[in-house]
Amino acid sequence: MERKDFIEQVGLSGAAILIFGCMQSCSKSDGTSTNTGGGTGTGGGGNNTSTVDFSIDISKSPFDALKNIGGFYVDPATNIIIVKTTASEIIAVSSICTHQQASITYQANNNRFYCAAHGSVFATTGAVTTGPATTALKKYQTSLTGTVLRVFA
Ligand code: FES
Repeated sequence: MERKDFIEQVGLSGAAILIFGCMQSCSKSDGTSTNTGGGTGTGGGGNNTSTVDFSIDISKSPFDALKNIGGFYVDPATNIIIVKTTASEIIAVSSICTHQQASITYQANNNRFYCAAHGSVFATTGAVTTGPATTALKKYQTSLTGTVLRVFA
């Protein structure tokens, strides 16, 4: 066997082993994926079901609105509206109306969420108080440590 032929055969065998090994490891699936990222969205532009867990410093712009009662901030990345409802409470709910996915706003004078698209009203718990929406807004947990607010599912 010539040197060139030997190298070609070894190279092909090695490639075949690598491909076979990759196919085996790539094809194994036991349904225990730990991926908690996207891909499980519910569609319609609303929040998906991926894990929410982020922190913001409410002493800094644009989050500093949360230093004042009635102040709120809408996080564009997660579509979550965060509101300082009382001196000691900051809440977070989905900013996407459960009726037809329009954006809701917070009405400080009534301490409620309002969707101007069709008039749905939601309590600060996320519960529907006036339709046509029939499903509550998803509510998230919050914890404040100093000026750092954590929002999580
Ligand atoms: S989309 Fe909000 S009430 Fe219809």
